[in-house]
Amino acid sequence: MLVTTKKLLVPARAKKYAVPAFNVNDLEFLKAVMSAAEKMKSPVIVQTSEGAIEYAGLDYLVAMIRVAAKGKIPVAMHVDHGKDLKTIKAALDAGYSSAMFDGSSLPYAENVKKTQQVVKWARAKGASVEAEIGAIAGIEDFVSVEEKDAHLTNPAQALEFAKETGCDALAIAIGTAHGAYKFKGKTHLDIDRLKKIAKLVKVPLVLHGASGVLEDVVKIAEHHGAKLGSARGVLDSDIKQAIKYGVAKINIDTDLRLAFTAGIREAVDEMPKVIDPRKLMEPANLLMREVAMRKMKLFGSAGRA
Ligand code: G3H
Ligand code: 13P
Ligand code: ZN
Repeated sequence: MLVTTKKLLVPARAKKYAVPAFNVNDLEFLKAVMSAAEKMKSPVIVQTSEGAIEYAGLDYLVAMIRVAAKGKIPVAMHVDHGKDLKTIKAALDAGYSSAMFDGSSLPYAENVKKTQQVVKWARAKGASVEAEIGAIAGIEDFVSVEEKDAHLTNPAQALEFAKETGCDALAIAIGTAHGAYKFKGKTHLDIDRLKKIAKLVKVPLVLHGASGVLEDVVKIAEHHGAKLGSARGVLDSDIKQAIKYGVAKINIDTDLRLAFTAGIREAVDEMPKVIDPRKLMEPANLLMREVAMRKMKLFGSAGRA
């Protein structure tokens, strides 16, 4: 059934588990995610970036995700990192049950104003809104304490921002980064900052850039020719801490991309005579499904559907 992110996230924060939000661009990713959700009986957020919307087309994505949401699993259809107000409005009009407005790179007042606009549109459609305050990038990208402080989410500002915008969920910056290269040195999240934010902000919190860059998956990909160098992700122990202190939506894109890459490389390597794309895609789909299932177990969303 198609539901809003608010409907999924409020109980998640209260009961201290997190709902996985997987980025999808096509049918293969969507089917792997849905198959995992059905197996694990987990609610799920299917999210598409502006790049995904450009790649697949809004109408194709809406039609596919509507079909995915026809069954018993509660599914939210969410715009990830919406920066263009026109795209967000079009998605809400087309049936998305949730949208993120990402004004994190804008001056504070402009971020508030544009988020308020999105909240207005979403309310008219019965949809939810995720907003962002702070800049999501690795802690070690900043050289000084002052620089780090200016980029990571300020707890008092987060409270003011959540109040002013009326957002349903808030993405915060506590040291994660997007992609496969999150940390230059040892991995580290600012859990103390999260604790302070969670004390003040009562809407569900969202962790972006949360992929684990799973060692076994990276190994398969590298065994079949990928060159991933110093790829490094968020530790499972940090994910558990984050959930304990208020994170209720966890975004995963990189881990599925890595699983897809590993599966495809393996298939092409090991089946040199096969040209049927369905056969070549199968190991990738199975690995993506397995990775999605692992996330549902780790986040505690398994069995909550
Ligand atoms: O946070 C961004 C997601 O990983 C989506 O990436 O813009 O390449 O689709 P994308
Ligand atoms: P990862 O790159 O860590 O998977 O993060 C994805 C994300 O935050 C999408 O919004
Ligand atoms: Zn993100």
